[in-house]
Amino acid sequence: MAFPQTRLRRLRRTPELRSLVRETDVLPRHLVLPLFVEAELEGSRPIDAMPGVSRHSVDAAVAEAGEAAALGLGGVILFGIPSAKDEQGSEAWDDGGAVQLAARAIKAAHPEVVVITDVCLCEYTSHGHCGVLRDDGSVDNDASLELLARTAVSHARAGADLVAPSDMMDGRVGAIRRELDAEGFAEVPIMAYSAKHASAFYSPFRDAADSTPAFGDRRGYQMDPANGDEALREVELDVAEGADIVMVKPALTTLDLIWRVKERTRMPVAAYQVSGEYAMIKTSSMDDRALALETLTAIRRAGADIVITYFAKDAARWLAT
Ligand code: PBG
Repeated sequence: MAFPQTRLRRLRRTPELRSLVRETDVLPRHLVLPLFVEAELEGSRPIDAMPGVSRHSVDAAVAEAGEAAALGLGGVILFGIPSAKDEQGSEAWDDGGAVQLAARAIKAAHPEVVVITDVCLCEYTSHGHCGVLRDDGSVDNDASLELLARTAVSHARAGADLVAPSDMMDGRVGAIRRELDAEGFAEVPIMAYSAKHASAFYSPFRDAADSTPAFGDRRGYQMDPANGDEALREVELDVAEGADIVMVKPALTTLDLIWRVKERTRMPVAAYQVSGEYAMIKTSSMDDRALALETLTAIRRAGADIVITYFAKDAARWLAT
């Protein structure tokens, strides 16, 4: 039936009618708050590239996690800033590292908070790459797997509810799964950053986490943003290796992939609205609240069950009003 019998505006007439037929919800439980933890810090220190986001001491991270719980967020994801970096990134698997200390403290203070930990080496290596290097400066995939698995086990030992490898080495989900199982953590799920594009939208994060590569870039391991079919292959491999949740990243540049991954796999799908997406909205002269909620809704509409976003706390508050 066409116009004039059909008038789509009829159901747009009032806020109540629009609410009645709204297809997509963004709820606090869908949102995960990233937290940057630096154990040496006193309190919190703002990150210049990300207005409104700070690095936190362990105590401050616990307070943030408490707020996340009070707001009904789905969880927090922890990133660590180490006290020292080395070639291998050894603080990544230090049981006394920033992520491990924060995970333990958060689970002790707020056991109900879902604590996810980012598993990668780039914040911890002196060269800033996500794996260990060969003599020629290239990233050694297979040698990195053991270190990543060791890191994931250390996070699990600290009480992480979920580990989230973001390094993009081939085979790391399987390596982490095997090591977790062998160490008695068969019940700790893996949220894999499966389709992670090499993106300019990560640059504020690299200031936040001090993880800019000292030379070169990440295109040798992160995906070419031009490739969608390959993104599906990455996801399928991670599922075959034991991923429990798959992630697509960034979010706004990959709405088509979020959709395809959801359709294809029926897995729980996470999308990461990354630092540059946040900063772009936050520093624009437009209405940041409206932009944040519109983009989060679009990411959910594309098929994301979970959205990792620096807007998580703000969005929960906005959604409640
Ligand atoms: C670590 C990691 C990065 C992000 C999440 N985990 C940085 C990168 O890959 O360069 C980016 C998150 C963001 O930009 O908000 N590998």
